[in-house]
Amino acid sequence: MKKVRLNGTDLSVSSIGMGCANLGTPKVPEGQAHEQIDMFLELGGNLLDTAHVYSDWIPGEKNRSEHVIGRWLDSHPREKIILCTKGAHPDLEHPSVSRVTPDDIRRDLSESLDCLHTDHVDIYMLHRDNPSMKVGPIMDCLAGFVEDGRVRYLACSNWTAERHAEANAYAAAHDLPRFSVNELMWSMAEINRTALPRDYVAMDTDMMDFGRREGISFFCFSSLAKGYFTRRYLGLPIHDAAVYSGKANDRMSEKLKGLPSAADVTRESLRWFASREVPAIPLVSFSNADQQMECCSAFAE
Ligand SMILES: NC(=O)c1ccc[n+]([C@@H]2O[C@H](COP(=O)([O-])OP(=O)(O)OC[C@H]3O[C@@H](n4cnc5c(N)ncnc54)[C@H](OP(=O)(O)O)[C@@H]3O)[C@@H](O)[C@H]2O)c1
Repeated sequence: MKKVRLNGTDLSVSSIGMGCANLGTPKVPEGQAHEQIDMFLELGGNLLDTAHVYSDWIPGEKNRSEHVIGRWLDSHPREKIILCTKGAHPDLEHPSVSRVTPDDIRRDLSESLDCLHTDHVDIYMLHRDNPSMKVGPIMDCLAGFVEDGRVRYLACSNWTAERHAEANAYAAAHDLPRFSVNELMWSMAEINRTALPRDYVAMDTDMMDFGRREGISFFCFSSLAKGYFTRRYLGLPIHDAAVYSGKANDRMSEKLKGLPSAADVTRESLRWFASREVPAIPLVSFSNADQQMECCSAFAE
């Protein structure tokens, strides 16, 4: 798979990142999850996107995705993967209580490293923001992780362009590492912003201008719009219809009808990212091996 160099880092990541939110859940049980990681590497992938909170929405083991990756790492060399995890998400039992505090972030990183059975992550990301928190103490805290070698590069997710710029300006003024990557919602599909969860940030013109100006790379979640165009092509029910229904997506679906197969629609939806004005890596959750092969073939060398 083709690789993309992330601006301001020495990381070359695969053109698709493997979304790990469902690893270890009934959708992708542990054995299948390990096969999925093996297959991803075989297909030339290297970027795994997980989070401390994945998949605590399912009762049972906590931090399941990180544990599953950690058990995979027990028998595989660490340097085979570029590992991104996230902290500072609210506890799911108390979703309105922010955990974007230095104490919570410190606790999350150290628990993540325990779960992942590794001494460092390549990218450490704040999963949510709390705009009432000053960026200074947050960036000071994160810089400590880079200093002690537990984190190579910093990133934020669901932070607006304005807050990301504020954090990077603080970092520059204090000679600290900045957020090199911003993870947000972005796909070829138009979205109805009013239907999004309140704590999601999606690509917009401010973010695009900021990203271009500052050399930010983007990791893009819901990059297939939950399979929207492929499902329209196949006449299957749409996931998250409130987010995706609308005239622009109807027009795009009509256009894509001309492609020879559903797999081509999926590949087209992913290749779209390669022609953006900023480095943009689609993250995809695969439900099975066929989906995984189809997606990865979009960027086969
Ligand atoms: N930072 C954040 O706040 C945040 C939020 C959400 C997600 N994420 C990350 O982004 C990753 C992906 O997000 P996502 O699950 O929302 O988005 P997605 O990749 O757009 O949607 C995944 C769904 O797309 C369908 N799909 C995958 N490959 C397909 C193919 N070849 N053909 C047809 N359909 C296909 C599958 O649906 P079916 O199961 O119905 O087949 C799959 O469950 C997550 O695992 C996570 O790592 C981050």
